[in-house]
Amino acid sequence: MKEKIFGPDVEMEDSKKEKDNKVIIYVAGGVILIIGIILLIVIILKKGEDKQNNTNNKRHIEFNENTLKKYKTPFYYYNTSLLEKTIETCLNITKKNNIKIHFSLKSNFNDKILKILSSHKEIGADCVSGGEVNLALKYFKPESIVFAGIGKTDEEIEEAVDNNIFCLNVESIEELDNLNEICKKKKKRMNFATRINPNVLAHTHEKITTGLNENKFGIFLDKYEENFYNKIKDVYTNKDNQYEYLNFIGLHFHIGSQILNFTDYIPLCQKIDEIIGKLNSNGVHITYLNLGGGLGVDYDNPTKNPIPDFQGFFDTYLNNIKSLKNISETFNGNKPINLHFELGRSIICQSGNLIAKVNYIKQGIEKKFMILDAGMNDLIRPAMYGALHQIEKIGEYKEKEMYDVVGPICESSDVFAKNYTMGKCAKGDLVIIRSAGAYGESMASRYNYRNIPQGYLDTEF
Ligand code: LLP
Repeated sequence: MKEKIFGPDVEMEDSKKEKDNKVIIYVAGGVILIIGIILLIVIILKKGEDKQNNTNNKRHIEFNENTLKKYKTPFYYYNTSLLEKTIETCLNITKKNNIKIHFSLKSNFNDKILKILSSHKEIGADCVSGGEVNLALKYFKPESIVFAGIGKTDEEIEEAVDNNIFCLNVESIEELDNLNEICKKKKKRMNFATRINPNVLAHTHEKITTGLNENKFGIFLDKYEENFYNKIKDVYTNKDNQYEYLNFIGLHFHIGSQILNFTDYIPLCQKIDEIIGKLNSNGVHITYLNLGGGLGVDYDNPTKNPIPDFQGFFDTYLNNIKSLKNISETFNGNKPINLHFELGRSIICQSGNLIAKVNYIKQGIEKKFMILDAGMNDLIRPAMYGALHQIEKIGEYKEKEMYDVVGPICESSDVFAKNYTMGKCAKGDLVIIRSAGAYGESMASRYNYRNIPQGYLDTEF
């Protein structure tokens, strides 16, 4: 009975205990789970931090130091997978928008680079000398080559005409007349466009703005604009049968290089619309609009931003040139205006690096000088424009140190960076000077009777 009487109570107590135990187990389990999750998060975060430290300290360990040391420094070293990725990013946009790209040979004319670029059939060449045209003809189809420059010689023009390149961008009315004479003599018809100086400011280094009245480039309008429109109308209508060998196809602009502020292009777009409008009202219709180069790259953070903002750059033009959308019978004779760009820096800059060796770490009175075997003759941008290229020690380092990183040339401006903190180096160490693919190798000189640096692709190592 007792058992019976107490039975259920005992059972109840037991099940209560059981419940309590279960609660304790659940709570404990939960606590353990939470601790586990926290531990896991801490481990993941720690790993990320280690990885970050690793990449900071050994960022360029993937460039096998010992392999690199087999090559005579200084030399240019090109990252081909980044180049391909950059090309792909650019072409993905241009193909969708029917934009034609001409690679600007002045930024880099290394044969191996040209070979890679020209293997993409959508890419043509932009040249500014007979030498560049001849080189371009080795890699690119003549019908994809454009030729600008304010001082083309008769011989250069003749060769361009003989080789049937796509278009000459003439930079003055005087050059237009000269081209006309050459074409008449040869009885060869030639496409040409006029490069216009739009008097538009680009916010970049003063030495690389090109679109202001004070710059020597292009045809000046303002008080001469009537002359210009009259001349183009005469050519277009072949007045008095004087221009039967000239085919005016359009306009060319280039207001400067290393432009990161795209709003600079808005007044240019307005100017373009104005000029196209005036040409149209003179009965002249264009099919070619070449907007030059200019897209800037991130010299401060090449690792974070290896590929420039192609989308923003192209969109600025596409969204702001109204004439591109306003093609109508009356406005442009129903002919589409084909957009062309001449890109240099944005395509090749971040893929190229200059590899140099530390010759000495020299203690100065107040500074430590890192003296490299590369100098301003190998990479002139810091001396010429005060440009700062990131410099990193190749391989591991335990601590950082501040240097003035200099070259061996007998010029005080032969300085790559002042008061620059980087991985501590010793004689014989290699350093990498980043973002040197554009206007690096192509601007190298033999100053101090030094050798021109070699350029290698990473695939050759
Ligand atoms: N088209 C014309 C007519 C040009 O004058 C230039 C560059 C380009 C295209 C290519 O521009 P990019 O896409 O590279 O911005 N040595 C200087 C840059 C001089 C640029 C000369 N013209 C530097 O190292 O910054």
